[in-house]
Amino acid sequence: MPGCSGVRSVQSDRMSAPEVIRVTGGTPLHGQVAVLGAKNAALKHMVATMLAPGNHVLENVPAIADVAIMREVLAYAGATCIRDGTSLLITVPEEPHPEAPLELVRKMRASILVLGALLARCGEARVALPGGDDFGSRPIDMHLEGLRDMGAVFELNHGVLEGRAPDGLHGTDIYLEFPSVGATENLLLAAAMATGTTTISNAAREPEMSDLAHFLNKMGAKIEGAGTSTISVHGVGSLDAATHRVVPDRLEAGTYALAGAISSGVVRVVDCVPDHLRMELRKMAAAGCEVTTGEDWIEVSGPDRPQPVDFATLPYPGFHTDMHPQMVAFLSIADGTSIATENVYAARFRYVGELNRMGANIHTDGQHVVVRGTNRLSGCEVDGCDIRAAAALVLAGLVADGTTSVVHADHIDRGYAGFVEKMRALGAGITRL
Ligand code: EPU
Repeated sequence: MPGCSGVRSVQSDRMSAPEVIRVTGGTPLHGQVAVLGAKNAALKHMVATMLAPGNHVLENVPAIADVAIMREVLAYAGATCIRDGTSLLITVPEEPHPEAPLELVRKMRASILVLGALLARCGEARVALPGGDDFGSRPIDMHLEGLRDMGAVFELNHGVLEGRAPDGLHGTDIYLEFPSVGATENLLLAAAMATGTTTISNAAREPEMSDLAHFLNKMGAKIEGAGTSTISVHGVGSLDAATHRVVPDRLEAGTYALAGAISSGVVRVVDCVPDHLRMELRKMAAAGCEVTTGEDWIEVSGPDRPQPVDFATLPYPGFHTDMHPQMVAFLSIADGTSIATENVYAARFRYVGELNRMGANIHTDGQHVVVRGTNRLSGCEVDGCDIRAAAALVLAGLVADGTTSVVHADHIDRGYAGFVEKMRALGAGITRL
């Protein structure tokens, strides 16, 4: 297997994988917490380095489990990754190995992003097809349709997607039927070095996607319109290695803000971009939080008890689906009934049953979550079935009577660096077992 030296260095990003996080409720959180770069940007930037040989530097990269897995993906393709504090030094070879195997893709869906990058760089790519997960089937049809329009052909053999671009990739007009983050990014990576101009209409506008375009432009790409619904990519012959600081993680910031809010405390989140959480902060304010912001900080002061608020998840700049479980945990103790509508995923409701085990009164009706606020949650053992569900259950534990044990809490390590330590520094009664 290529890139064995890279595989060795992966170990330093691995968290010990605790199965349980235990929270003792009742203490309002107070203090300041800093966030690092966004998981959902860093992972894509790591893939983007595959487009140019040489030494890249990504700064502000959190030491989370998903980054460790992406390091394995890059190592398999022949790149080496070395961590230096919060920077990743990535050395990409002249001839990458165009493959991502099942054992890595299965661990993390974002590995599918190597498809566009390796097709562009090597003219071929073999990537195991990711399965479904707790949010529903999560197909990649839009990724493939766009790449086909650019000249790629695919065959599915024994669970492995084999892509080739026999005549190279060429620019074309692509209209996405939904502003998929992953599809937009895969197409951006493929189009950066395609012949001619690619236009992606109904593109994702997420800040992490715009940050990817920003990084690619530093590498020499010619991308216009990132952050709007129409992106134009003028293909260039080759790209160069570059240095880039990853955009702050708005989901990490929002989760700590809500941790302060649910505990009726006051938490200041620093090193973030308040503008990237406009809708979420608006809803927190509507629920009775006092929200103040500066250039790179947010301070949220929680009410004694939240007011009910309705919200609906939507692609950016709408309310982020990855803040949905945490917001419902907050509203579960509101003084009235709130309705949350999930518009991004078909099935993101497994956490609901777990909150109900803690005494919440929530039921789902199609894509709607009806949250009847209760004035008391009580701690028990709950299953943190994905990153955001596990975070939401910890938040609920902050206000529950007694002790809440979140099992499968290692999901949190996939997306939050130093979560337990940061929460403890804010005053939470929290430990890992
Ligand atoms: N979809 C399709 N076909 C496609 C692509 C997407 O039907 O070809 C559907 C999906 O099934 C889903 C919706 O479109 O229902 C949105 O999917 P999208 O492609 O936008 O999401 P993603 O790229 O797979 C990223 C984040 C998710 C985040 C979503 C939405 C990464 C690694 N993942 O996923 O983050 O929820 O965008 O913003 O960037 C998380 O961090 O916890 C997480 C799940």
